[in-house]
Amino acid sequence: MPDGSLIDASTPNVARTYDYLLGGKENFAADRAMAEKVVRLVPQARTFARLNREFLVRTVRFLAGEAGITQFVDIGSGLPTQRNVHEVAQQINPDARVVYVDNDPMVLVHARALLATNANTRVADADLRKPSNIVGHHDVLDLIDWSKPVAVLLAAVLHFITDTDDPRQIIGELRAAMAPGSYLVISHAERRPDIAEAGELYRDANAPVVPRTAEEIAALLSGLNLVAPGLLRLPLWRPQELEMWPEELDAPLLGAVGQVASMRTGGG
Ligand SMILES: C[S@@+](CC[C@H](N)C(=O)[O-])C[C@H]1O[C@@H](n2cnc3c(N)ncnc32)[C@H](O)[C@@H]1O
Repeated sequence: MPDGSLIDASTPNVARTYDYLLGGKENFAADRAMAEKVVRLVPQARTFARLNREFLVRTVRFLAGEAGITQFVDIGSGLPTQRNVHEVAQQINPDARVVYVDNDPMVLVHARALLATNANTRVADADLRKPSNIVGHHDVLDLIDWSKPVAVLLAAVLHFITDTDDPRQIIGELRAAMAPGSYLVISHAERRPDIAEAGELYRDANAPVVPRTAEEIAALLSGLNLVAPGLLRLPLWRPQELEMWPEELDAPLLGAVGQVASMRTGGG
C-alpha cells in the first residue's frame, strides 16, 4: 500500500504542479508557488499542460479504436484528472484494461481511490528508472498479458529521467517486454532557449526536468514504426478535435506513437 505519510508538502512536486496547471485541487502552496513562477516565465504553461493531456486522450482513442489495443500501461500516470486513460479507452472498448504506474506517494493514494475503481484497472507503485520492476509488477501482471499487443504510455514523464538514468536503455527494456504489434506513446518537453529558464525552476522540485532537442527525442523512438503523422508538436498530432490558437502550434512539447514491428510472416 502507498504510504500517505511519505507525502512531502513543502517540496515543489512535479505531479502536483502539473495538477495545478491543469486546474486540479490536489496540490499544496509550494506546488502552486512553483507553478506561478513557471507561468510568469511561460505564460502559456497552462495551455501546454492541457495540450499534453489532449494529446494523450487522442492517442488513447486511436489505440483503443483504430489500432484495436485492449491493454494499456500508463507510466508516470499522474494525479487523477478529467478523462483518465481507462475512461477514454473503456468508452470505446468497455473491456479495455489499464494499469496506472507512478512512483509518487500522493499520486498513488489518489489513484487507488479514484482510478482503481473497476475490475479492469489497477495502480502499481513502481519507478520508470527500474523498468523490470514495472514489467514484473504483480498488479501489472494481474491485467497485462505481455505476450499480446499492449500500449505503453510515457506521457510527460521521460523529461523527468536524466541522461544518467539512460532513457534509451529504459525504453529498450520496456520494448523487449512488448509483443510485436504493441505501441509506445511518448510526449516530451522540447529544449528551446525561450523556455530554458522555466526548466531551471525545477531544480528545487522533487524531480529535475530535462527538456531534450527534437533529435534527442527522435532517438528515443528509433527502431519503432511511427504512426502517421510521426513525431511533431503535440497539437499537430491528428488535430481534428482541437480548436487551436496560433501560439498553441508552437508548444514546446513533442509527441509520437510508435509501433513495435510485427513479426514478419512468410519467407524472405
Ligand atoms: C507531468 S505528470 C504527467 C501525467 C500524465 N502522464 C499526463 O501526461 O497527463 C508526470 C508524472 O510522472 C511521474 N514520475 C516522474 N518520475 C517518475 C519515475 N521515475 N517513475 C514513475 N513515475 C514518475 C510523476 O510522479 C508524475 O505523476
